[in-house]
Amino acid sequence: MLFNSSQLEKFRQDTPGVQERIHFNNAGAALPPEPVLQAILSHLAMEARIGGYEAAIAARREVAGFYKAVGRLLNAPSRNISFATSATEAYTKALSSISFKPGDVILATEDDYVSNQIAFLQLQKRAGIRLFRTKSRPEGGFDPASMEKIIRKHRPKLVAVTHIPTNSGLVQDAEVAGQLCRQHGCLYLLDACQSAGQMPLDVTRLHCDFLSGTFRKFLRGPRGAGFLYVSDRVLKKELAPLFLDLHSADWTGADSYSPRKDARRFESWERSYALLLGSKAAAEYALKAGLDAIRERTFRLAASLRGQLSEIPHTQVLDRGKSLCGIVSLHIDNWKPLPLKMALEQKGINASIAGHNSAVIDFDKKGVEWALRLSPHYYNTEEEVNTVAERLKEVLEKQA
Ligand SMILES: Cc1ncc(COP(=O)(O)O)c(C=O)c1O
Repeated sequence: MLFNSSQLEKFRQDTPGVQERIHFNNAGAALPPEPVLQAILSHLAMEARIGGYEAAIAARREVAGFYKAVGRLLNAPSRNISFATSATEAYTKALSSISFKPGDVILATEDDYVSNQIAFLQLQKRAGIRLFRTKSRPEGGFDPASMEKIIRKHRPKLVAVTHIPTNSGLVQDAEVAGQLCRQHGCLYLLDACQSAGQMPLDVTRLHCDFLSGTFRKFLRGPRGAGFLYVSDRVLKKELAPLFLDLHSADWTGADSYSPRKDARRFESWERSYALLLGSKAAAEYALKAGLDAIRERTFRLAASLRGQLSEIPHTQVLDRGKSLCGIVSLHIDNWKPLPLKMALEQKGINASIAGHNSAVIDFDKKGVEWALRLSPHYYNTEEEVNTVAERLKEVLEKQA
């Protein structure tokens, strides 16, 4: 299942950015491979040559290929895929399609993404929904027994799970949540922003009604592009985002409109076709590499990094969970996050910082205000992992 050395060499040849820096910020935005860059640039060039609307028509076959490629990534037909400008746009459009009434329940987890948590709190204020959060297991991740208990007692209209949180290596048990939702007839919204491109995703096993994601992270696509999977169940129920437009619906008469039948009901008319085509190239690149092998290598590199970092004095590796992914989070005593990030930057290492307000519940439990986030991907090397651990040690020793 692991990549061989010539495959790894090819991945790196395809990725000009690896010459410049050690990029361990794939959970922020990964380095795109050449085919992604070329797809974007060549479409922009065509727009400049023949006009933006004309270029979209000329590229219509390729555009249709976007839906096929993302569908293959999720094991879903093209009709269930829509393009979005970000994961958050995809997520909030899905949320907006559910007509919550006062007293309706949303059941989330403690590790759901910050913007999702804010949206739930807004719905609490605006629509009078009741928000519950599934208890977490001591070893991390939501507790299925707690989820089932709350579902039985409060009959949520929606269950929301973030598959991999932004701030740690945890992988939540998204399939178990899906089974519970099917069993109890709840809608299920899965945030797969950090898992898409990092591990295989199969909506027939996840049993989700909606799945949102972005391209710029582990999928290695461009910024400004995301996607939403919408199940046939949802499409048949005629759920539609709060505001439709001339692309997502037809204006059929002075006082009538008709929403599209497929998932493009969740799209807006205007989008960057260059980014859409770059996203298609990114999805195809990931499919060609193979998501099982990507997961295996990415998780393995991160595990090696975690092991090395845990040996460094005064550092606390924060990742919890029975399955840990490519995100490594750690806290370092007596350091402020920004100088640490800058010190690594000076050593040619890209990392990022998760602040307290990105993971209020998790960080309070762990007793930290921030975490350094290091996120290797399959195109990174074992040598880079060792170098990052060594450089970090040097930075901390210099300061001691
Ligand atoms: C788990 C998770 N969900 C959602 C998002 C939001 O993605 P976007 O910035 O594309 O809206 C992020 C971004 O970091 C994330 O980590």
